[in-house]
Amino acid sequence: MKRILLSLVVACGFAWAALPAAASEGSYAWDRFPSEKMTDMASLQHGAKIFVNYCLSCHSAAYMRYNRLQDIGLTDDEIRKNLLFATDKVGDTMKTSIDPKQAKDWFGATPPDLSVIARSRAETGKGAGADYLYTLWRTFYLDESKPTGWNNLAFPDIAMPHALWQLQGQRRAVFVDEKNPHEPEKTVHRFAGFEQVTVSSSTWTYAEPESRAWWGGLWADRIRFSRFGEQAVEYGLSDPDELTSIGQAFLDWAASPDAVFIVPHVEILAMR
Ligand code: HEC
Repeated sequence: MKRILLSLVVACGFAWAALPAAASEGSYAWDRFPSEKMTDMASLQHGAKIFVNYCLSCHSAAYMRYNRLQDIGLTDDEIRKNLLFATDKVGDTMKTSIDPKQAKDWFGATPPDLSVIARSRAETGKGAGADYLYTLWRTFYLDESKPTGWNNLAFPDIAMPHALWQLQGQRRAVFVDEKNPHEPEKTVHRFAGFEQVTVSSSTWTYAEPESRAWWGGLWADRIRFSRFGEQAVEYGLSDPDELTSIGQAFLDWAASPDAVFIVPHVEILAMR
């Protein structure tokens, strides 16, 4: 269960990452979910925030309790403060406020419970459920012919609107019609890439004692105790003494009452 929610949460956090390889419409090849993200706590916590902010309005995760987010390094207090909107009890399951019948009327399909969605979407030959979710969230595109105005390469004609479009910006999909080399009388409608219509951006701000302590502590630990620090030494970029002092500088920064750290992101798509 833990891994299932985690992969969903990570997929959310990476909706705008690199573009998957081209494939035919309808049989879109899934991209590989970057599994190292499963142990990246900052990324997981960011994904959890996105999940409660952008998904729980329509979906439940009825087998998941909020306090299980301790598994991604959050305390009950942090969960209560930053992630509880629908309830005030961290022991509650993740419910949605939407009425399933009404949702069906609005969208033409009921938003499924997401507790085990990753497991249920694994497909032999295509990939794991996490690969599917990762691809699903990176392949929405504008399509005025659809009721929601959106379509998706991994799930053609999906009834879900693109819940993360403000983070990703708007994109169109470009398709080309090509002769089928095996049956020349037939054409293949092939996806040829995305065209960015609007660019978007977001910022992370660490300015209060609590978020500063979290961000500063995270970097102090990362620099001193993780592969990040080990690699810096291996590559000859730093030495253990310097890493210790950089880590300490992050802790000093976090303890300083008027310290601010702002991370601006411009979300762009990289083709490969
Ligand atoms: C405005 C309502 C709405 C929001 C917000 C929303 N969804 Fe959905 N979602 C739907 C509907 C409706 C469906 C059913 C789509 C269908 O069957 O065509 C769906 C389906 C899904 C599916 C199943 C796809 C499949 O293969 O069957 C997943 C996974 C999913 N949503 C994840 C998410 C995540 C993650 C978020 C937040 C980033 C989110 N949804 C936000 C309405 C929503």
